[in-house]
Amino acid sequence: MTEFKCIRCGHTKPVDDVYVCSCGGLYEVHHSFGDISLDLFDGKLRDIGSQWSSGVWRYKELIHPELDAKYIISRPEGNTNLYKRQKVAEYAGIQGLFLKHEGENPSGSFKDRGMTVGVSVAVSIGALKVACASTGNTSASMAAYAAQAGLQGIVFIPEGMIAYGKLAQALAYGAQVVQIKGNFDDAMDLIKKGAKRLGFYILNSINPWRIEGQKSIIFEMLQQRKWNPPDWIIVPAGNLGNTSAFGKALRELKELGLIDKMPRIASIQAEGANPFYNLWKSEEKKIKPMKPDTIATAIKIGNPVSWEKALRSIRETNGIVEQVSDNAIMDAKAVIDASGVGCEPASAASVAGAKKLREKGVIAGDEEAVCVLTGNLMKDSDTTVKYHLGGLENIDARRRNKPVQVEPDLSKIENILLTMGSSPTLEVKTLGV
Ligand code: F0G
Repeated sequence: MTEFKCIRCGHTKPVDDVYVCSCGGLYEVHHSFGDISLDLFDGKLRDIGSQWSSGVWRYKELIHPELDAKYIISRPEGNTNLYKRQKVAEYAGIQGLFLKHEGENPSGSFKDRGMTVGVSVAVSIGALKVACASTGNTSASMAAYAAQAGLQGIVFIPEGMIAYGKLAQALAYGAQVVQIKGNFDDAMDLIKKGAKRLGFYILNSINPWRIEGQKSIIFEMLQQRKWNPPDWIIVPAGNLGNTSAFGKALRELKELGLIDKMPRIASIQAEGANPFYNLWKSEEKKIKPMKPDTIATAIKIGNPVSWEKALRSIRETNGIVEQVSDNAIMDAKAVIDASGVGCEPASAASVAGAKKLREKGVIAGDEEAVCVLTGNLMKDSDTTVKYHLGGLENIDARRRNKPVQVEPDLSKIENILLTMGSSPTLEVKTLGV
């Protein structure tokens, strides 16, 4: 039987829409799995075009075994590539570095994995209105899935603090956009307080079903590696839904005997939005909220909802929490972008974190690491263009690709091309699905 279990006091109850226990701990989905073999998921790879070819619903038995398939709202999502790029590996100093590109999901971020599950559950219980607070990607994803399901979507976003690509999506997909004169944490507070009064179903990652869907990043990445776990999984960290989901996925696979080795999770925060890093470094028992500030707006979060679940993930996987500067994030982004893969700023925290942990000797040069790229390059094209034009305050744009202005004159263009450096080396190594 599937039920909710409080991660702090262990209290269990039937699944409902109250996500915080009276003790203050968060509930998570607790499954009683039967016998599950990896052949089940490998067999489904042949089901091209069916519901089970979604990179989330392929693993339904590990995510929501009891949901009636008629309620599933799927694009489909997932099936994102696992890349190997020599330049990125060299930059981080880790030869066995891979990039799991979650920006290749339908709405351009990993959020679609949790959202397909959250919206399907909303439909199954007859919800009419769904809502979330967001730094942008959750709102884009929720707006898309709500539109598909015929639900009314309401998104609370911090005014002036989300990238245009994301705002464009929420508006275009038809959600009601509420711009809060405050930051993400203020918006999240309103969502938690307002759900009952305003009658909406919450689709932030405080909703345990979102976490269940996000576990599929791990399942799919492992399946792409023939179920051979890497040494490290490195992930950008904001509201801490992914860190929580990754630990839960690995714990469940280990308990089911489906993996032998536990990869270590490295959760990477921006220096200016680092409450989880501070908690990890200190003797404190509780997260200390802060006023966040980082160029990576997706992870500009000072009071992460899932810190307690995430802390358990780090402890259970012998993991680590690290912080990186905005300069390191933008540098790593420029390298990922120039490798032809590309990502939004927050995503690059994973590679910046990998590099820092390698330099500190925490990650060995011969270890394998999968860095999760959480969002697409096109989400925040403003920041990318400003970086290359040299217009970002406090950022030392060391890897600028500066455009040149020239009259429409072929010989002048010829001169410019002659002064350019040698042609880039060919990138040939790709490991796709
Ligand atoms: N990367 C991107 C691109 C994100 O959009 C987010 C979170 C994260 C990383 C952090 O992930 O919260 O699981 O630790 N974005 C949320 C949003 C908060 O509203 O779109 P996390």
